[in-house]
Amino acid sequence: MFSPVVAMEDQAVVRNLVTAFEEEMKAHTAYKAFAAQAEGEGLHGPASLFRATSRAEQIHANNHARVIRHLGGEALADVPEIPVGSTIENLKTALADQRFEIDYLYPAFLSAAVSLMDTTAIRSFTWALEADKSHARLYSDAFARLSSNVNSGWARSRHDFFVCALCGYTAENPEAENCPACNLLWDRFETIR
Ligand SMILES: [Fe+2]
Ligand SMILES: [Fe+2]
Repeated sequence: MFSPVVAMEDQAVVRNLVTAFEEEMKAHTAYKAFAAQAEGEGLHGPASLFRATSRAEQIHANNHARVIRHLGGEALADVPEIPVGSTIENLKTALADQRFEIDYLYPAFLSAAVSLMDTTAIRSFTWALEADKSHARLYSDAFARLSSNVNSGWARSRHDFFVCALCGYTAENPEAENCPACNLLWDRFETIR
């Protein structure tokens, strides 16, 4: 994982970045599969949501990979086979994944990066953490909507979602002039349907 040029103090940060990179690649792959499952169930609204979050997780993975390479490490991930359930189950799984990253993974990695004053890693972890909070909110709203009415207009039709090209923050409607997580101009968000 490390080339001989990786400094000792960077190795712990690189190790955490590689774990985060793997998690994000797993999420990227899982949400793509969940989108296909939702399409198959005729749940086009949740399919749009999963396509947007899949793209956002890819942005997180790319950001982590850039820092890993900058620190002299290698960004490689072995993505396991992803179990796919029904869309309502997949929303629960995705929400639990995001909660794990928000509550445990990123806070732990952030505090390690802060203690080593590694600003590029701090930024990559912070952006992923803030964006994952937006995903958790969207999953929990989608779960509530599907639980109350699986045939609503929201569930049955595709929607535009807005994904920050820099940090992966995701929203259902334009919210401000700039990304609340990384400050990128909203004009530069990607629209995913
Ligand atoms: Fe993420
Ligand atoms: Fe952003």
